[in-house]
Amino acid sequence: MSKAIVIFGSTMGNTETLAASVVEGLKEGGKEVTLKNVTDVKVEELKDYELVVLGCSTWGLGELQDDFIGFYDTMNADAINGKKAAVFGPGDSGMYPDNFCDAVTIIEKKLEECGATIVEDCLKVDGDVDDALDEAKTWGVNVAKNA
Ligand SMILES: Cc1cc2nc3c(=O)[nH]c(=O)nc-3n(C[C@H](O)[C@H](O)[C@H](O)COP(=O)(O)O)c2cc1C
Repeated sequence: MSKAIVIFGSTMGNTETLAASVVEGLKEGGKEVTLKNVTDVKVEELKDYELVVLGCSTWGLGELQDDFIGFYDTMNADAINGKKAAVFGPGDSGMYPDNFCDAVTIIEKKLEECGATIVEDCLKVDGDVDDALDEAKTWGVNVAKNA
């Protein structure tokens, strides 16, 4: 079974909640999945996985969630080139229309710059994540199928 890691950065728990559903979907899609808070993982660990799924909320005006910044800064081609990857995150388009889920876009771009292949369009969840758990799970299934 091919191995996937899901890494999330989450201040109030919303990305963490979405991550749990994404993990369910990936498992349903046949992946062996490790779930980690970004605070507990180093970029070098990615080499043990074929599929890398990153989840991050957006804070400030279009900025990465605080915990994710250190990880993002260390993302490099050595660890990421050739990986399959996908990105998800929550945001709020009502309050932040010009920066909706920017963190997701920023991380996806860096993955591509580091040589990863994005296997599924990113998932941007608007507002209450509890309304999007089925969507997140289905997204996880699709990521697994394409990876
Ligand atoms: C101070 C503040 C700034 C935010 N900035 C943005 C933003 O720029 N873009 C966006 O889409 N959402 C923004 N949000 C919404 C958060 O991304 C959203 O609440 C998210 O669910 C938080 O997820 P987390 O609990 O995993 O950190 C902001 C929320 C707060 C409280």
